[in-house]
Amino acid sequence: MAVQRTFSIIKPDATKRNLTGAINAKIEASGLRIAAQKRLRLTEEQAGIFYEVHKGRPFYEELCAFMASGPIVAQVLEGENAIAKYREVMGATDPADAEEGTIRAEFAQSKGENSVHGSDAPETAEAEIAYFFSGLELVG
Ligand code: CMP
Repeated sequence: MAVQRTFSIIKPDATKRNLTGAINAKIEASGLRIAAQKRLRLTEEQAGIFYEVHKGRPFYEELCAFMASGPIVAQVLEGENAIAKYREVMGATDPADAEEGTIRAEFAQSKGENSVHGSDAPETAEAEIAYFFSGLELVG
């Protein structure tokens, strides 16, 4: 498997609780490299565009409001098989189902306030990275 990039968000529930460093320690311990990073605050509209695929689902409005409720840290992660590897490091969407030792098992508060986001496929990784970062910002 070649070196791959994936997109990650540390969500407002985690930045509020000062968990950015603890989450990134788990990411880096897994062997993934943080190739780009920025802390920013989304508007509800910007969050809505990012999560457009979920538009119409019952949790969509709540998800957009939550993602705009505080700062996030957007990151590009790089490494062998990065998309699948980061999904393993995050654990299941619902922390009740997440394996021990994963970010969500340790830090997530609920299915909605689940501390981190990660891309689910190469096409979504590419689109999500392009939404937040220009080529010049992917410093490796
Ligand atoms: P994420 O990996 O960022 O992708 C979509 C997000 O929607 C997901 O993490 C959850 O935070 C959120 N989500 C998914 N299902 C639900 C749900 N049933 N209720 C609330 N939020 C949800």
